[in-house]
Amino acid sequence: MKKILITGALGQIGSELTMTLRERYGAENVIATDINKNESNVVYSGPFEHLDVTNDRDFFNIAKKHKVDTVIHLAALLSATAEQKPLLAWNLNMGGLVNALEVSRELDLQFFTPSSIGAFGPSTPKAQTPQDTIQQPTTMYGVNKVSGELLCNYYFNKFGVDTRGLRFPGLISYVAPPGGGTTDYAVEIYYKAIKQGHYTSYIDQGTYMDMMYMPDALNAIIGLMEADPTKLVHRNSFNVSAMSIAPEDVEAAIKKHIPTFTMDYQVDPVRQQIAQSWPDAIDSTCAVDEWGFKVQYDLAKMTEDMLWHLNKKWLGEKVEKGAI
Ligand code: SER
Repeated sequence: MKKILITGALGQIGSELTMTLRERYGAENVIATDINKNESNVVYSGPFEHLDVTNDRDFFNIAKKHKVDTVIHLAALLSATAEQKPLLAWNLNMGGLVNALEVSRELDLQFFTPSSIGAFGPSTPKAQTPQDTIQQPTTMYGVNKVSGELLCNYYFNKFGVDTRGLRFPGLISYVAPPGGGTTDYAVEIYYKAIKQGHYTSYIDQGTYMDMMYMPDALNAIIGLMEADPTKLVHRNSFNVSAMSIAPEDVEAAIKKHIPTFTMDYQVDPVRQQIAQSWPDAIDSTCAVDEWGFKVQYDLAKMTEDMLWHLNKKWLGEKVEKGAI
């Protein structure tokens, strides 16, 4: 990775990954692209190009113009939106992916795209879900993710494209919010805890899903992309998780800092059904063994950091670490 093109750079992952990679590889060497434009650092701290990833020629021309050697393809719809608009999800998630892979093949680029815990389904073992197991998802997002994993393997085996990927769990962060995901509750809860002192969860209590704090997710992307390719057996779909949690676990963690915080439930049947079709806790052993995956944040440490950053962002207070 020396010169990197990122798609979906204004999304939840892209907003932070772009800035992290610009610090590491030089601002001019990270080309942020997105279908939208905003006033954020991502747009103004380095090269930014408008890109609709379903436009294959634009994709190719931008990659060629900037002489990139790596594509990090993040532009996609998340699970709940994909369930509302399945055809749009197919066209964007699969059309964008195949364009990104074709550009990588034509220009001989290294390639990363995230898969997800959504690549599993109700017939997958729920506890310590193995790396290699049954993948029969029942959502459009899951169909896209399994097809994507297979397509990335195909581009590696058939054309020698250096494709790599992670099955991300729900990602929790304070910079850019996620949108349209099933795991979004675990981000919203922190925002509401600070702004309103109360959260109504659309995911029911007792529903366990894997989660990870964004700094660990960014380290995982960089760790995998810089890993020795000869050690990688599972190139495109490494299980990675930092914690398996249910809404009441997050509630309890927040209450340690904000004792007056309250939570109730108003379950959304669509997102609840998606959540129940996913694993409770996936096994990240292959990622640990093949490229040294590790995390720094558990629920307690993440909660302290999230609340500190959100307080700082909104209240503008010089909050001492450990003071909330
Ligand atoms: N966070 C994603 C979602 O909820 C899962 O990968 O859709």
